[in-house]
Amino acid sequence: MSPLITLTVVASLLLADPADAERVLGAYVFQRHGDRTAKSWPPTKLTSLGYSQEYMTGSFFHDRYISANSSHKIDGISTDIVNLAQITASAPQDDVIDNSGVGFLQGSIATETLRNGSTVEVPLNGYQLIPMSDVKSGSGSEDNTWLQSTSSCGKAIVSSNNYFNSNSYVSLLSGTRRLYQSLEPLVNETFSASELSYKNAYTIWDLLFVALIHNSTASFPPSTILNDTVMQELLVLANEHEFNLAYNSSDTIRAIAGMNLAGEVLTALNETITSGGKSKLNVQFGAYASFLSYFGLAELPATTVNFTGIPNYASSMAWELVTDDEGTEIPATSDIRVRFVFHNGTSIEGSTQLQAYPLFGQSMVELPWAQFVDETKRIAIQSQEDWCQTCGNSTGICASSSGAGDNSSSTSSAGSRSGREMSLGVAGVIGAMITLGVLFGLFILSMIVFGLRFVPKSAVAGIHRGSDASTVPVMKTIAA
Ligand SMILES: *[C@@H]1O[C@H](CO)[C@@H](O)[C@H](O)[C@H]1NC(C)=O
Ligand SMILES: *[C@@H]1O[C@H](CO)[C@@H](O)[C@H](O)[C@H]1NC(C)=O
Ligand SMILES: *[C@@H]1O[C@H](CO)[C@@H](O)[C@H](O)[C@H]1NC(C)=O
Ligand SMILES: *[C@@H]1O[C@H](CO)[C@@H](O)[C@H](O)[C@H]1NC(C)=O
Ligand SMILES: *[C@@H]1O[C@H](CO)[C@@H](O)[C@H](O)[C@H]1NC(C)=O
Ligand SMILES: *[C@@H]1O[C@H](CO)[C@@H](O)[C@H](O)[C@H]1NC(C)=O
Ligand SMILES: *[C@@H]1O[C@H](CO)[C@@H](O)[C@H](O)[C@H]1NC(C)=O
Ligand SMILES: *[C@@H]1O[C@H](CO)[C@@H](O)[C@H](O)[C@H]1NC(C)=O
Ligand SMILES: *[C@@H]1O[C@H](CO)[C@@H](O)[C@H](O)[C@H]1NC(C)=O
Ligand SMILES: *[C@@H]1O[C@H](CO)[C@@H](O)[C@H](O)[C@H]1NC(C)=O
Ligand SMILES: *[C@@H]1O[C@H](CO)[C@@H](O)[C@H](O)[C@H]1NC(C)=O
Repeated sequence: MSPLITLTVVASLLLADPADAERVLGAYVFQRHGDRTAKSWPPTKLTSLGYSQEYMTGSFFHDRYISANSSHKIDGISTDIVNLAQITASAPQDDVIDNSGVGFLQGSIATETLRNGSTVEVPLNGYQLIPMSDVKSGSGSEDNTWLQSTSSCGKAIVSSNNYFNSNSYVSLLSGTRRLYQSLEPLVNETFSASELSYKNAYTIWDLLFVALIHNSTASFPPSTILNDTVMQELLVLANEHEFNLAYNSSDTIRAIAGMNLAGEVLTALNETITSGGKSKLNVQFGAYASFLSYFGLAELPATTVNFTGIPNYASSMAWELVTDDEGTEIPATSDIRVRFVFHNGTSIEGSTQLQAYPLFGQSMVELPWAQFVDETKRIAIQSQEDWCQTCGNSTGICASSSGAGDNSSSTSSAGSRSGREMSLGVAGVIGAMITLGVLFGLFILSMIVFGLRFVPKSAVAGIHRGSDASTVPVMKTIAA
């Protein structure tokens, strides 16, 4: 063998990665916001640390799906000049943005010092001046301590409220009273003695968790009250509290946030296929309640109980459309599979990675498209009409769609447009899961990493796909 041939053989062996056999046809990414200030002290703001986390995660996804040399590059995606038909980003929005975003956008927190002395700088100075004032806001935000309270889905609100009457809640409430009362000297500026109970499990944990990252007061925390064991105990309780508000296996309406997300994912991936690969990558930003309720609906806790825990800041989950077909077109759906991947926290190229998990209690991590569609349809909401009916709402935006009416079986025309018309109601639901960080994450990921900038569309509260439907979409991506 000539040295040249040897070299080629060695090189191709080195490159032989299992992923080489497959093509990624498209993906839908759902991304949690980064580090932020405590919920108990609204308005909640994204911190520089959070900004960096989003930036790193955005870079990671760019390297995975867009970089020309990536083994997971989405087939046919434009690697230098962004093709707007291919990438769609969406995020809910909120008042918080106007109130506190302005300060951030003016660069007032370009650097900050953490409790442990590390300094965090906002990446890429100069890209922060984003005109956000045109973005109209909806209601609900990360400032809301109980996420469902702004879901605006009638039945889901009732369902989550029922948790507070359940046996498990009542027994935890009394069983943990002493623990919460013991925290009084630490949190008495924020919580009254009567508020110190399991009822506020998440916000109490959140306040302390944020303080442990950011509060550099030397006397904090007094070790006699707070140590790692106590923090872990508080986390377990907060997880229990939030998971139960987000999901109940015998009362699935509670998981409305996950139902919406499932519908959006299905609609978007389906569009990748039916459009022959015109749209390729969707990125949506949101909060942990959407993760938790989707986890429950997709039976992920069956794979590990960790899926009943709140995902870390800047966590990502993605649904990837893959095929072994060697052509260059979108193959027959029978050759397409869906793979679910998740990473708990900031993704950094070269170290932590996404991991695949089986959905819907199956054993395989890649589901044939048809099976994914069937299973997802069981849990998904794909249209506003469907949303109104499922939520039992018949007024407001549901009045015109004869919402809870009995004639609302979807017509064929509802099909393809439905995802886009999912407006106020659904938007409100997701709007409940918002944070300022969400939007910044969106800007960071899309502007810097994908080279896009945002043009807010004057529209009502909402999120959404960069569609032209006049009802909802608030953002459109255009080439920078
Ligand atoms: C891909 O290319 C970029 C830029 O040229 C480089 O930084 C990166 O290390 C490459 N990645 C791989 C997996 O080769
Ligand atoms: C300080 O804390 C931040 C956030 O928790 C972490 O990312 C960083 O690695 C820490 N630095 C040191 C020196 O421990
Ligand atoms: C749905 O109904 C609930 C309860 O009646 C109400 O609070 C909520 O605002 C309604 N949502 C919409 C979008 O009309
Ligand atoms: C779950 O829903 C069922 C049926 O509505 C209810 O009996 C039970 O108390 C709920 N459990 C929790 C923890 O909310
Ligand atoms: C909170 O508790 C600390 C320590 O017990 C005490 O010094 C402080 O005055 C209390 N603050 C309020 C607002 O009660
Ligand atoms: C930091 O901790 C001190 C002492 O517990 C407390 O008085 C102060 O309010 C805390 N500040 C923040 C920003 O958490
Ligand atoms: C942590 O603090 C609790 C409550 O003050 C105490 O009972 C426990 O022994 C402490 N654990 C450790 C490992 O210090
Ligand atoms: C669950 O999470 C813990 C801590 O985050 C980790 O140590 C453990 O390996 C995880 N378990 C599984 C089955 O993923
Ligand atoms: C992610 O990490 C958090 C905190 O470390 C943990 O509570 C949760 O269970 C983890 N989730 C998964 C899916 O590993
Ligand atoms: C349902 O449809 C039938 C026939 O299409 C119509 O007569 C009836 O008025 C409708 N009912 C409602 C509540 O819209
Ligand atoms: C996929 O899109 C096609 C064409 O728009 C539509 O007919 C079909 O119902 C969609 N399927 C799903 C599962 O949304």
